[in-house]
Amino acid sequence: MSERDLDLNALKMYSFLVFTKLEGAVTSGMIHLGDRLGLYGALASSPFALSCAQLAGKTSLHQRWVQEWLHNQAAARLIEVTIEESGNELYSLTPEAAVVLADENHPAFGMGMFHRLPQTMESLRALPESFRTGLGYDYDSHGPEGAVGIERSFEPWSRSYLLPVVLPALDGAVEGLMAGAQVADIGCGAGGAAVRIATAFPRSVVTGYDISRFALDRAVAKKAEQQLSNVSFVDPRSTPLPEDESLDLITAFDCIHDMTHPQDVMRAIRRSLKPGGIWLLVDIKALDTFAENMAKNPMASLMYGISVMSCMSSAMSVAGGAGLGTLGLPESKARAMAEDAGFSRFRKLDIEHSLNAFYEVRP
Ligand SMILES: C[S@@+](CC[C@H](N)C(=O)[O-])C[C@H]1O[C@@H](n2cnc3c(N)ncnc32)[C@H](O)[C@@H]1O
Repeated sequence: MSERDLDLNALKMYSFLVFTKLEGAVTSGMIHLGDRLGLYGALASSPFALSCAQLAGKTSLHQRWVQEWLHNQAAARLIEVTIEESGNELYSLTPEAAVVLADENHPAFGMGMFHRLPQTMESLRALPESFRTGLGYDYDSHGPEGAVGIERSFEPWSRSYLLPVVLPALDGAVEGLMAGAQVADIGCGAGGAAVRIATAFPRSVVTGYDISRFALDRAVAKKAEQQLSNVSFVDPRSTPLPEDESLDLITAFDCIHDMTHPQDVMRAIRRSLKPGGIWLLVDIKALDTFAENMAKNPMASLMYGISVMSCMSSAMSVAGGAGLGTLGLPESKARAMAEDAGFSRFRKLDIEHSLNAFYEVRP
Protein backbone atom coordinates (compact mmCIF):
# COMPACT_ATOMS: atom_id res chain seq x y z
CA MET A 1 0.00 0.00 0.00
CA SER A 2 1.40 3.38 -0.94
CA GLU A 3 1.45 6.38 1.37
CA ARG A 4 -1.11 8.01 -0.95
CA ASP A 5 -3.74 5.38 -0.12
CA LEU A 6 -3.58 6.17 3.57
CA ASP A 7 -5.83 8.69 5.26
CA LEU A 8 -3.24 10.07 7.65
CA ASN A 9 -5.81 11.35 10.09
CA ALA A 10 -7.56 7.96 10.19
CA LEU A 11 -4.14 6.32 10.58
CA LYS A 12 -3.40 8.49 13.60
CA MET A 13 -6.78 7.76 15.15
CA TYR A 14 -6.46 4.03 14.51
CA SER A 15 -2.97 3.90 16.05
CA PHE A 16 -4.33 5.78 19.03
CA LEU A 17 -7.18 3.23 19.35
CA VAL A 18 -4.71 0.34 19.30
CA PHE A 19 -2.44 1.92 21.90
CA THR A 20 -5.35 2.73 24.22
CA LYS A 21 -5.69 -1.08 24.47
CA LEU A 22 -2.04 -1.38 25.44
CA GLU A 23 -2.52 1.45 27.94
CA GLY A 24 -5.39 -0.55 29.47
CA ALA A 25 -3.31 -3.71 29.65
CA VAL A 26 -0.31 -1.95 31.20
CA THR A 27 -2.43 0.02 33.67
CA SER A 28 -4.17 -3.27 34.57
CA GLY A 29 -0.73 -4.58 35.50
CA MET A 30 -0.25 -1.53 37.71
CA ILE A 31 -3.66 -2.16 39.32
CA HIS A 32 -2.53 -5.71 40.06
CA LEU A 33 0.56 -4.31 41.81
CA GLY A 34 -1.48 -1.72 43.72
CA ASP A 35 -3.71 -4.46 45.07
CA ARG A 36 -0.94 -6.94 45.75
CA LEU A 37 1.38 -4.46 47.47
CA GLY A 38 -1.34 -2.95 49.69
CA LEU A 39 -0.99 0.48 48.07
CA TYR A 40 -4.72 0.93 47.63
CA GLY A 41 -5.39 -0.29 51.16
CA ALA A 42 -2.90 2.24 52.54
CA LEU A 43 -4.45 5.10 50.57
CA ALA A 44 -7.99 4.04 51.52
CA SER A 45 -7.22 3.79 55.22
CA SER A 46 -5.56 7.18 55.46
CA PRO A 47 -7.82 9.99 56.74
CA PHE A 48 -5.81 12.52 54.72
CA ALA A 49 -4.13 12.63 51.29
CA LEU A 50 -0.65 11.12 51.27
CA SER A 51 2.60 12.22 49.71
CA CYS A 52 4.62 9.60 47.87
CA ALA A 53 7.08 9.46 50.78
CA GLN A 54 4.25 8.88 53.26
CA LEU A 55 2.70 6.14 51.11
CA ALA A 56 6.08 4.47 50.62
CA GLY A 57 6.67 4.67 54.38
CA LYS A 58 3.25 3.26 55.20
CA THR A 59 3.73 0.28 52.86
CA SER A 60 7.48 -0.19 53.49
CA LEU A 61 8.16 0.12 49.76
CA HIS A 62 10.90 1.88 47.78
CA GLN A 63 9.91 5.49 47.21
CA ARG A 64 11.12 5.82 43.62
CA TRP A 65 9.05 2.81 42.52
CA VAL A 66 5.98 4.04 44.36
CA GLN A 67 6.36 7.45 42.73
CA GLU A 68 6.34 6.03 39.19
CA TRP A 69 3.37 3.84 40.08
CA LEU A 70 1.48 6.84 41.50
CA HIS A 71 2.13 8.78 38.31
CA ASN A 72 0.66 5.94 36.25
CA GLN A 73 -2.39 5.74 38.49
CA ALA A 74 -3.02 9.47 38.59
CA ALA A 75 -2.47 9.85 34.83
CA ALA A 76 -4.99 7.04 34.32
CA ARG A 77 -7.42 9.02 36.56
CA LEU A 78 -7.72 6.07 38.94
CA ILE A 79 -6.47 7.97 41.96
CA GLU A 80 -6.75 11.66 42.83
CA VAL A 81 -3.73 13.95 42.90
CA THR A 82 -3.43 17.49 44.17
CA ILE A 83 -0.26 19.31 43.15
CA GLU A 84 0.53 22.07 45.64
CA GLU A 85 2.24 25.33 44.71
CA SER A 86 5.46 23.94 46.15
CA GLY A 87 5.19 21.08 43.66
CA ASN A 88 4.37 18.63 46.44
CA GLU A 89 2.01 15.91 45.19
CA LEU A 90 -0.71 14.55 47.46
CA TYR A 91 -2.60 11.39 46.58
CA SER A 92 -5.99 10.06 47.71
CA LEU A 93 -8.90 7.85 46.68
CA THR A 94 -12.46 9.01 46.13
CA PRO A 95 -14.96 7.03 48.24
CA GLU A 96 -15.99 5.14 45.08
CA ALA A 97 -12.40 4.29 44.20
CA ALA A 98 -11.80 3.09 47.77
CA VAL A 99 -14.72 0.66 47.45
CA VAL A 100 -13.69 -0.79 44.08
CA LEU A 101 -9.97 -0.94 44.84
CA ALA A 102 -9.72 -1.64 48.55
CA ASP A 103 -12.94 -2.79 50.22
CA GLU A 104 -12.98 -6.59 49.97
CA ASN A 105 -16.38 -6.69 51.72
CA HIS A 106 -18.19 -4.36 49.34
CA PRO A 107 -20.15 -5.97 46.47
CA ALA A 108 -18.47 -3.56 44.01
CA PHE A 109 -14.94 -4.66 45.01
CA GLY A 110 -13.18 -5.32 41.71
CA MET A 111 -9.70 -6.67 42.37
CA GLY A 112 -10.41 -10.37 41.75
CA MET A 113 -9.83 -10.30 38.01
CA PHE A 114 -6.72 -8.18 38.53
CA HIS A 115 -5.45 -10.64 41.14
CA ARG A 116 -5.18 -13.34 38.50
CA LEU A 117 -3.96 -11.05 35.71
CA PRO A 118 -0.42 -12.53 35.62
CA GLN A 119 -1.83 -16.07 35.33
CA THR A 120 -4.39 -14.99 32.73
CA MET A 121 -1.74 -13.21 30.66
CA GLU A 122 0.69 -16.11 31.10
CA SER A 123 -1.84 -18.23 29.19
CA LEU A 124 -0.89 -16.26 26.07
CA ARG A 125 2.25 -18.37 25.86
CA ALA A 126 0.24 -21.58 25.43
CA LEU A 127 -2.72 -20.26 23.46
CA PRO A 128 -1.11 -20.16 19.99
CA GLU A 129 -0.99 -23.96 20.22
CA SER A 130 -4.68 -24.01 21.22
CA PHE A 131 -5.56 -22.05 18.10
CA ARG A 132 -3.84 -24.79 16.08
CA THR A 133 -5.09 -27.88 17.93
CA GLY A 134 -8.45 -26.63 19.23
CA LEU A 135 -7.63 -27.76 22.77
CA GLY A 136 -7.78 -25.26 25.62
CA TYR A 137 -6.86 -25.32 29.30
CA ASP A 138 -8.91 -25.84 32.43
CA TYR A 139 -8.96 -23.52 35.43
CA ASP A 140 -6.09 -25.30 37.16
CA SER A 141 -3.78 -24.25 34.35
CA HIS A 142 -3.87 -20.82 36.06
CA GLY A 143 -2.32 -22.33 39.21
CA PRO A 144 -3.38 -21.79 42.83
CA GLU A 145 -3.41 -18.00 42.48
CA GLY A 146 -5.91 -18.37 39.63
CA ALA A 147 -8.32 -19.98 42.10
CA VAL A 148 -7.74 -17.16 44.58
CA GLY A 149 -8.48 -14.61 41.85
CA ILE A 150 -11.76 -16.33 40.98
CA GLU A 151 -12.69 -16.44 44.65
CA ARG A 152 -11.93 -12.74 45.12
CA SER A 153 -13.97 -11.96 41.97
CA PHE A 154 -17.18 -13.67 43.03
CA GLU A 155 -17.13 -13.60 46.82
CA PRO A 156 -17.82 -9.89 47.44
CA TRP A 157 -21.17 -9.95 45.66
CA SER A 158 -22.15 -13.38 46.97
CA ARG A 159 -21.33 -12.32 50.54
CA SER A 160 -23.77 -9.41 50.32
CA TYR A 161 -26.54 -10.84 48.17
CA LEU A 162 -26.77 -14.65 48.22
CA LEU A 163 -28.63 -15.02 51.51
CA PRO A 164 -30.70 -11.81 51.64
CA VAL A 165 -31.63 -11.46 47.95
CA VAL A 166 -30.95 -14.48 45.75
CA LEU A 167 -32.23 -17.43 47.83
CA PRO A 168 -35.44 -15.61 48.90
CA ALA A 169 -36.19 -14.99 45.20
CA LEU A 170 -36.56 -18.75 44.70
CA ASP A 171 -40.03 -20.07 45.38
CA GLY A 172 -39.94 -21.98 48.69
CA ALA A 173 -36.16 -22.41 48.84
CA VAL A 174 -35.52 -20.65 52.15
CA GLU A 175 -38.32 -22.57 53.91
CA GLY A 176 -36.87 -25.84 52.61
CA LEU A 177 -33.34 -24.90 53.65
CA MET A 178 -34.51 -23.98 57.15
CA ALA A 179 -36.32 -27.30 57.53
CA GLY A 180 -33.28 -29.21 56.21
CA ALA A 181 -32.51 -29.66 52.52
CA GLN A 182 -30.07 -31.68 50.45
CA VAL A 183 -28.10 -29.14 48.42
CA ALA A 184 -25.42 -29.28 45.73
CA ASP A 185 -23.33 -26.38 44.42
CA ILE A 186 -21.98 -27.27 40.98
CA GLY A 187 -18.71 -25.63 39.93
CA CYS A 188 -18.37 -24.48 43.54
CA GLY A 189 -14.91 -22.95 43.12
CA ALA A 190 -13.40 -22.06 46.48
CA GLY A 191 -16.63 -23.00 48.24
CA GLY A 192 -17.81 -19.58 49.41
CA ALA A 193 -21.47 -20.05 48.46
CA ALA A 194 -21.63 -23.66 49.74
CA VAL A 195 -20.11 -22.66 53.09
CA ARG A 196 -22.44 -19.66 53.33
CA ILE A 197 -25.52 -21.85 52.78
CA ALA A 198 -24.27 -24.55 55.18
CA THR A 199 -23.59 -21.96 57.89
CA ALA A 200 -26.92 -20.17 57.52
CA PHE A 201 -28.95 -23.39 57.37
CA PRO A 202 -27.42 -25.90 59.81
CA ARG A 203 -30.16 -28.48 59.17
CA SER A 204 -29.25 -28.63 55.49
CA VAL A 205 -26.43 -30.67 53.98
CA VAL A 206 -24.41 -29.12 51.15
CA THR A 207 -22.00 -30.74 48.70
CA GLY A 208 -19.76 -28.62 46.49
CA TYR A 209 -18.58 -30.11 43.18
CA ASP A 210 -15.62 -28.80 41.21
CA ILE A 211 -12.91 -30.22 38.96
CA SER A 212 -10.28 -27.70 40.10
CA ARG A 213 -8.05 -29.14 42.80
CA PHE A 214 -6.75 -25.68 43.67
CA ALA A 215 -10.31 -24.42 44.21
CA LEU A 216 -11.27 -27.59 46.13
CA ASP A 217 -8.21 -27.15 48.40
CA ARG A 218 -9.40 -23.67 49.31
CA ALA A 219 -12.96 -24.91 49.86
CA VAL A 220 -11.83 -27.72 52.16
CA ALA A 221 -9.66 -25.26 54.14
CA LYS A 222 -12.63 -22.91 54.51
CA LYS A 223 -14.82 -25.74 55.81
CA ALA A 224 -12.13 -26.69 58.37
CA GLU A 225 -11.64 -23.07 59.42
CA GLN A 226 -15.37 -22.72 60.13
CA GLN A 227 -15.59 -26.20 61.69
CA LEU A 228 -18.63 -27.14 59.64
CA SER A 229 -19.86 -30.71 59.51
CA ASN A 230 -22.73 -30.20 57.05
CA VAL A 231 -20.68 -29.29 53.97
CA SER A 232 -18.26 -31.30 51.87
CA PHE A 233 -16.38 -30.81 48.63
CA VAL A 234 -15.74 -33.37 45.92
CA ASP A 235 -14.52 -33.78 42.37
CA PRO A 236 -17.48 -34.91 40.23
CA ARG A 237 -15.18 -37.06 38.09
CA SER A 238 -14.69 -39.40 41.06
CA THR A 239 -17.88 -38.60 43.01
CA PRO A 240 -20.64 -37.68 40.57
CA LEU A 241 -23.99 -36.14 41.47
CA PRO A 242 -26.47 -38.73 42.82
CA GLU A 243 -28.85 -40.04 40.16
CA ASP A 244 -31.78 -40.74 42.46
CA GLU A 245 -33.82 -37.50 42.47
CA SER A 246 -32.71 -36.90 46.06
CA LEU A 247 -31.64 -33.24 46.01
CA ASP A 248 -33.85 -30.29 46.95
CA LEU A 249 -31.70 -27.46 45.67
CA ILE A 250 -28.85 -27.24 43.18
CA THR A 251 -26.94 -24.05 42.52
CA ALA A 252 -24.51 -23.27 39.69
CA PHE A 253 -22.77 -19.89 39.79
CA ASP A 254 -20.94 -18.72 36.67
CA CYS A 255 -19.68 -22.10 35.65
CA ILE A 256 -21.96 -23.80 33.09
CA HIS A 257 -20.47 -21.76 30.22
CA ASP A 258 -16.98 -22.94 31.35
CA MET A 259 -17.82 -26.63 31.11
CA THR A 260 -16.74 -28.96 28.37
CA HIS A 261 -20.07 -30.84 28.47
CA PRO A 262 -22.70 -28.43 29.82
CA GLN A 263 -25.64 -30.33 28.32
CA ASP A 264 -24.57 -33.55 30.06
CA VAL A 265 -24.17 -31.66 33.32
CA MET A 266 -27.68 -30.22 32.96
CA ARG A 267 -29.02 -33.75 32.43
CA ALA A 268 -27.13 -34.93 35.52
CA ILE A 269 -28.63 -32.03 37.50
CA ARG A 270 -32.10 -33.05 36.31
CA ARG A 271 -31.51 -36.69 37.35
CA SER A 272 -30.39 -35.66 40.83
CA LEU A 273 -33.21 -33.22 41.61
CA LYS A 274 -36.41 -34.17 43.40
CA PRO A 275 -39.55 -33.59 41.29
CA GLY A 276 -40.24 -30.52 43.47
CA GLY A 277 -36.60 -29.43 43.55
CA ILE A 278 -35.06 -26.19 42.32
CA TRP A 279 -32.02 -25.50 40.18
CA LEU A 280 -30.65 -21.98 40.62
CA LEU A 281 -28.75 -21.24 37.41
CA VAL A 282 -26.58 -18.12 37.50
CA ASP A 283 -24.59 -17.29 34.44
CA ILE A 284 -23.14 -14.35 32.56
CA LYS A 285 -25.72 -11.92 31.19
CA ALA A 286 -25.35 -12.39 27.45
CA LEU A 287 -27.45 -11.46 24.45
CA ASP A 288 -28.50 -13.82 21.69
CA THR A 289 -26.17 -12.76 18.93
CA PHE A 290 -22.68 -11.37 18.54
CA ALA A 291 -24.20 -8.29 16.86
CA GLU A 292 -26.35 -7.58 19.93
CA ASN A 293 -23.51 -8.18 22.35
CA MET A 294 -21.26 -5.88 20.35
CA ALA A 295 -23.89 -3.14 20.13
CA LYS A 296 -25.27 -3.30 23.66
CA ASN A 297 -22.55 -4.63 25.93
CA PRO A 298 -19.82 -2.04 26.54
CA MET A 299 -17.69 -4.82 28.03
CA ALA A 300 -18.07 -7.14 25.02
CA SER A 301 -14.42 -7.00 23.93
CA LEU A 302 -13.28 -7.67 27.50
CA MET A 303 -15.67 -10.63 27.70
CA TYR A 304 -14.60 -12.19 24.41
CA GLY A 305 -10.94 -11.76 25.37
CA ILE A 306 -11.42 -13.32 28.81
CA SER A 307 -13.28 -16.10 27.06
CA VAL A 308 -10.25 -16.93 24.91
CA MET A 309 -7.89 -16.81 27.88
CA SER A 310 -10.15 -18.47 30.45
CA CYS A 311 -13.81 -19.46 29.93
CA MET A 312 -13.85 -20.82 26.37
CA SER A 313 -10.40 -22.24 26.91
CA SER A 314 -11.79 -24.22 29.87
CA ALA A 315 -14.85 -25.25 27.85
CA MET A 316 -12.55 -26.56 25.08
CA SER A 317 -10.08 -28.26 27.41
CA VAL A 318 -10.98 -31.74 26.19
CA ALA A 319 -11.59 -32.93 22.64
CA GLY A 320 -15.22 -32.36 21.71
CA GLY A 321 -15.71 -29.65 24.35
CA ALA A 322 -18.80 -27.51 23.77
CA GLY A 323 -16.80 -24.27 24.02
CA LEU A 324 -19.70 -22.03 25.01
CA GLY A 325 -17.42 -19.36 26.49
CA THR A 326 -18.12 -16.22 28.50
CA LEU A 327 -21.05 -14.89 26.45
CA GLY A 328 -22.12 -18.32 25.23
CA LEU A 329 -25.13 -18.93 27.46
CA PRO A 330 -27.77 -16.26 26.83
CA GLU A 331 -31.24 -16.80 28.28
CA SER A 332 -32.63 -18.36 25.09
CA LYS A 333 -29.86 -20.94 24.95
CA ALA A 334 -30.01 -21.69 28.68
CA ARG A 335 -33.76 -22.20 28.37
CA ALA A 336 -33.44 -24.50 25.34
CA MET A 337 -30.66 -26.55 26.96
CA ALA A 338 -32.65 -26.86 30.20
CA GLU A 339 -35.67 -28.09 28.24
CA ASP A 340 -33.49 -30.57 26.42
CA ALA A 341 -32.22 -31.81 29.79
CA GLY A 342 -35.80 -32.53 30.89
CA PHE A 343 -36.71 -29.39 32.82
CA SER A 344 -40.18 -28.00 32.24
CA ARG A 345 -40.12 -24.66 34.09
CA PHE A 346 -37.64 -21.84 33.51
CA ARG A 347 -38.06 -18.42 35.14
CA LYS A 348 -35.74 -15.42 34.98
CA LEU A 349 -35.41 -13.86 38.42
CA ASP A 350 -35.76 -10.13 38.94
CA ILE A 351 -32.27 -9.59 40.38
CA GLU A 352 -30.08 -6.71 39.24
CA HIS A 353 -26.42 -7.58 38.69
CA SER A 354 -23.87 -5.94 36.40
CA LEU A 355 -22.55 -9.25 35.08
CA ASN A 356 -24.97 -12.07 35.85
CA ALA A 357 -28.47 -13.29 35.03
CA PHE A 358 -30.38 -15.49 37.50
CA TYR A 359 -32.83 -18.28 36.62
CA GLU A 360 -35.04 -20.62 38.63
CA VAL A 361 -35.22 -23.91 36.75
CA ARG A 362 -37.54 -26.73 37.80
CA PRO A 363 -38.33 -30.26 36.66
C1 LIG B 1 -15.73 -18.97 37.02
S1 LIG B 1 -15.47 -20.26 38.13
C2 LIG B 1 -16.83 -20.03 39.27
C3 LIG B 1 -16.57 -20.66 40.59
C4 LIG B 1 -17.64 -20.46 41.66
N1 LIG B 1 -18.94 -20.93 41.26
C5 LIG B 1 -17.71 -19.01 42.08
O1 LIG B 1 -18.74 -18.38 41.85
O2 LIG B 1 -16.72 -18.52 42.66
C6 LIG B 1 -15.95 -21.70 37.23
C7 LIG B 1 -15.67 -22.99 37.97
O3 LIG B 1 -16.27 -24.07 37.24
C8 LIG B 1 -15.43 -25.19 37.44
N2 LIG B 1 -15.77 -26.24 36.46
C9 LIG B 1 -15.51 -26.28 35.14
N3 LIG B 1 -15.99 -27.42 34.61
C10 LIG B 1 -16.58 -28.10 35.61
C11 LIG B 1 -17.28 -29.34 35.70
N4 LIG B 1 -17.48 -30.11 34.63
N5 LIG B 1 -17.76 -29.73 36.90
C12 LIG B 1 -17.57 -28.97 38.00
N6 LIG B 1 -16.91 -27.78 37.98
C13 LIG B 1 -16.43 -27.35 36.80
C14 LIG B 1 -14.04 -24.62 37.32
O4 LIG B 1 -13.05 -25.47 37.82
C15 LIG B 1 -14.19 -23.32 38.10
O5 LIG B 1 -13.87 -23.50 39.47
